[in-house]
Amino acid sequence: MSLDKLFPNKLKCKPVPLIPFTCKVNGEQRNLEVPPTYRLADLICGEFQLSGTKTFCGNGHCGACSVVMNGKLVNSCLIMAYQANHTEIETIECISKGTLHPLQEKLMEEGELQCGYCTPGRVMAIKALLDSNKRPTREEIVEALSGNLCHCTGSGGMIRAIEKYLDESPVSKKSTEVLGGYDDHT
Ligand code: FES
Repeated sequence: MSLDKLFPNKLKCKPVPLIPFTCKVNGEQRNLEVPPTYRLADLICGEFQLSGTKTFCGNGHCGACSVVMNGKLVNSCLIMAYQANHTEIETIECISKGTLHPLQEKLMEEGELQCGYCTPGRVMAIKALLDSNKRPTREEIVEALSGNLCHCTGSGGMIRAIEKYLDESPVSKKSTEVLGGYDDHT
C-alpha cells in the first residue's frame, strides 16, 4: 500500500523554490540555481567539487572550512548561499596549480602536516593575512591562526614555516602573487 493511502491526511510539503546564484570562484564565473538552505560550504564541496575545502564542526568553531570571500576570511559553513551571491571566492585550489606552493613546501619541511585536515583552512587564513599585511609579526600570525584549530600538531610548525617562507620571499611582492592565487580583486 502506498504512503498516500496509509496517511491520507499527512502534510503535503511544497518543493522549495531554487534561488539564482552567481559568484566567481578562483577567478571562474559560476552561475546556478541553489536551494535557499544551502551554505557556501555546500556549494564549494558539492556543486563546485572543490574538495580541498574541508568541513568538520559545521558550526564555526574549527575553521577547517575557511575560504576567502571578497578578500576576507570566512567560515564557509556559516555563510548561507544568498550571502555569497555576487561575491568572489578563493579556495585552497587557487594557491597551488599542479605543484606545491613554496609555502606548502615549507609546511612539509617543518612537519606541520599530520592528518592535514585543517591545513587548507589554515593556508587560507595565512593568505588572508598576507593580503592585508605583507610582513606580519609572530603575534599577528598567531592571531590570524587563532580561528583554525589543529588537533594533531598545534601551530608551532606552521608559524616556523610561515616565518621561513616570509624570510625567503620578496617583501615588495603582492601576497596574491607570492601565494600564487589569481589576482582579480586587487
Ligand atoms: Fe566550518 Fe568548522 S566546519 S568552522
